[in-house]
Amino acid sequence: MSGKLVVCKHPLIDVKLSIMRDEKTKAKEFRESLDEIASLMTYEIFKDLETYDSECIIHTPTGCDLPKKKLKQKIIIAPVLRAGLGMTDGVRKMIPTARIGHIGLYRNEETLEPVEYYFKLPEVKNPLVLICDPMLATGGSAVAAINAVKKRGYKNIRLMCLVGVKEGIENVHKHHPEVDIFIAAVDEKLNDKGYILPGLGDAGDRIFGTK
Ligand code: PRP
Ligand code: URA
Repeated sequence: MSGKLVVCKHPLIDVKLSIMRDEKTKAKEFRESLDEIASLMTYEIFKDLETYDSECIIHTPTGCDLPKKKLKQKIIIAPVLRAGLGMTDGVRKMIPTARIGHIGLYRNEETLEPVEYYFKLPEVKNPLVLICDPMLATGGSAVAAINAVKKRGYKNIRLMCLVGVKEGIENVHKHHPEVDIFIAAVDEKLNDKGYILPGLGDAGDRIFGTK
């Protein structure tokens, strides 16, 4: 099975992403733009989901009765800490029934190797797990996050990122060929410190104002 790369191209996403790329953008507007892009991307990521007619009947103002539609697929949103937290609410607003898990990973600044420090996902039968992390640089963190989710027995996994480079995308597909990647932009390259160019800097620091 071969995972897809879906670049979520949309003028609204392009405009909001360019706000995020601007070094002058402050944490509040940075967070708001990321949140809104995450909601917009949710539309694309889940467009193949099936619904069913539940037993609950709704009454329309025009006097008709209809079965209430529900999603067949249970969803877990799994942000990679910290920066993935910035995408969680944007997705959850669109899928309020989704459960949330957390994957604690940081990238060692010298080796660029991911270090896992926390993992907790809700127990759900056969869920679709959406791993969220805005930045896909070397791909080491995304590969480790997917490994961690698979280790707990979950198989149906999608990855949602904001900005990535070819190297990171290829790394994920080399280790996890069945995982579909949804991304807003594929940037040019990494610099010698493993930062994406043009990119938007350190996503975690900009979301939480830590620098
Ligand atoms: C950033 C980002 C990814 C990772 C991407 O996290 O949010 O998790 O780097 O880099 P990679 O593709 O080379 O692994 P960081 O380690 O800075 O942690 P933070 O979100 O806590 O700041
Ligand atoms: N992590 C970030 O936050 N930004 C990058 O450009 C690369 C990794």
